[in-house]
Amino acid sequence: MIYVTGDIHGEIDIAKLDEERFPAQRSMTKEDYVIILGDFGFPWGGESEETDRQYLAWLDERPFTTLFIDGNHENFDLLYALPEEEWNGGRIHRVSKSVLHLCRGSVFTLQGKTFFAFGGARSTDRERRTPYVNWWPQEEPSKAEYQRGADALAAAGWKVDYVLTHAVPASLSPDWNKEPLSNYLETVKKKLRFTHWYFGHYHADVTFHPGPWWQARSRFGSFSCLYDALDKIE
Ligand SMILES: [Fe+2]
Repeated sequence: MIYVTGDIHGEIDIAKLDEERFPAQRSMTKEDYVIILGDFGFPWGGESEETDRQYLAWLDERPFTTLFIDGNHENFDLLYALPEEEWNGGRIHRVSKSVLHLCRGSVFTLQGKTFFAFGGARSTDRERRTPYVNWWPQEEPSKAEYQRGADALAAAGWKVDYVLTHAVPASLSPDWNKEPLSNYLETVKKKLRFTHWYFGHYHADVTFHPGPWWQARSRFGSFSCLYDALDKIE
């Protein structure tokens, strides 16, 4: 089983993964996955070190394995200080025993399906934040990460089952939130064959079903923005 959901923001929204709100976990194992679409928020460090430890231990105790792409609200210094590992065809940072960060620009194969992961986004409130305390410039991808994504998609023949991002392609992005990453994702959207594209960031649960006419004539798949919803995708 594979479920996907939206932003967690550290302890703020993590209750969506408790047994009461996510009872399906009772039939899951560590071979099953819950994917978070960015703004995971652990580890945050500093005064939150103890909270980080408690919640990561709590996630390790869940019956599933937690996977996340990064959003714009992550402590990238802590995240990128972890060693990278090869995992299911892509690159990860192991944050704890069963909490894994999916690196930008990787294609993973999970339960026979392929997933292109590309986290990151520009914070609209970055002017009011303090660099390296509660905001990190690595929230926006580097040239090397953009290239890694293009290389991984080329190796996959520009065809995957699912796309996992925090930001959205420019054609779906509101005018106030255009950024270099949205242009990159637009290029990916135009070239890539995919079934469904999941994104977070906008704190809403909305699915764009292009409809049967579109689906019969277009190679584009459909899109979901997720926040509280937990979508079962496999
Ligand atoms: Fe968020």
